[in-house]
Amino acid sequence: MKGIVLAGGNGSRLYPLTRSISKQLMPVYDKPMIYYPISVLMLAGIQDFLILTKPEDRTAFEKLLGDGSEFGVSITYAEQDQPRGIAEALIIGEDFLDGEPCALVLGDNIFYGHGLPEILAEAKGFESGAEIFAYQVADPRAYGVVEFDGEGRVLSIEEKPRKPKSNFAVTGLYFYDSTAPAKARTLTPSDRGELEITELNSLYLEEGQLRANLMGRGFAWLDAGTHDSLLEAAQFIASIEERQGMKIACLEEIGYRLGYLTREQLLKQARKLKSSTYGAYLEKIAKSP
Ligand code: DAU
Repeated sequence: MKGIVLAGGNGSRLYPLTRSISKQLMPVYDKPMIYYPISVLMLAGIQDFLILTKPEDRTAFEKLLGDGSEFGVSITYAEQDQPRGIAEALIIGEDFLDGEPCALVLGDNIFYGHGLPEILAEAKGFESGAEIFAYQVADPRAYGVVEFDGEGRVLSIEEKPRKPKSNFAVTGLYFYDSTAPAKARTLTPSDRGELEITELNSLYLEEGQLRANLMGRGFAWLDAGTHDSLLEAAQFIASIEERQGMKIACLEEIGYRLGYLTREQLLKQARKLKSSTYGAYLEKIAKSP
C-alpha cells in the first residue's frame, strides 16, 4: 500500500494576506506540522509516500523531508497547482499509485491515542472499498459528517451540512482500494469549485463499499488549520511530550522502532540535529537499550 500526503491548499485561514508560508511547514510545538500525518501513515506500515504541494512550496518540502531516507522511507513529490479539492490528489497521484491501494492523509490533521497502530492495521487489512475514520465532535458543521445505523454501518455522508445528522466528523485520513483514481475522475467540481472527497466517499457508499471506523474518545484528533487550533495542538503536544519524556510523531524514532533505520543511522541523524532538543531526543533513543 502507498501513501499520499496532501500539503497544498491555500492556507487562507492562517495567512490570508501573504500566502507566503505553507501551513504544513509550520511547527506544531517542536516539529513541522506535516510530520504528524506522515507519522500516522508510517505507523500504518506505509513506506512509499507521495507528498502533494503547491508548486511554489515544493522546494521547501524537498529540503525538509528529502527522499525520506532519514526516516527509512521513500518520499517523492508532485504538485497541485490550484486547490481543486482533496479528491484531486488521487488523480494527480494515479501514476505513483500504479494500481495499488492507498492511504490518503491531510497535511494538517493530527491523530494521537493509545492503540492507533492497531486500528490502522485493522482498517488497512481491507480487500476492497474504502475505510474512513469518524470522530465525535461537539460541532461537526465544518466537516464531512457520517451517519450510522444501529449496527455501525454507514447510512449517509455529507460535506459541511447545515443540519448535521450526527456528531461524527469525518477525519482527514482515508484508505482506498485501487479503483479510487478512476472514481475520482468521474467527479465534477462542487459549488466551492472542488472535487470533494465526500463525493468520492459517497460513490463507495452507493456501492455498499464504505466503512467508517470510529475513533473513540480516548483518541485525540486535531486539525491545525486555524490560529486557535494551531495553538491548541501545540499546547496539547507539548503537555504530553513534557509529561512522558517521549515525542509524538518523531519520524526518525518511528523509522528506527519499525526497523527501517539502524542505530548508526539514527545516531547520525541525532548528530546532525544536535543543537536542538529534537536531536538530543534522537540520541537518547539511539543510546537506550
Ligand atoms: O479535516 C477533515 C475535513 O477535511 C473533512 O471532515 C472534510 O470532509 C474534508 O472536505 C476536509 O474539510 P475542509 O474543507 O476543512 O478541508 P480544507 O480545505 O481545509 O483542506 C484540508 C487540507 O487539505 C489542508 O491541509 C489543505 C489541503 N488541501 C485542500 C484542498 C481543498 C490541498 O492540499 N488541496 C486542496 O485542493
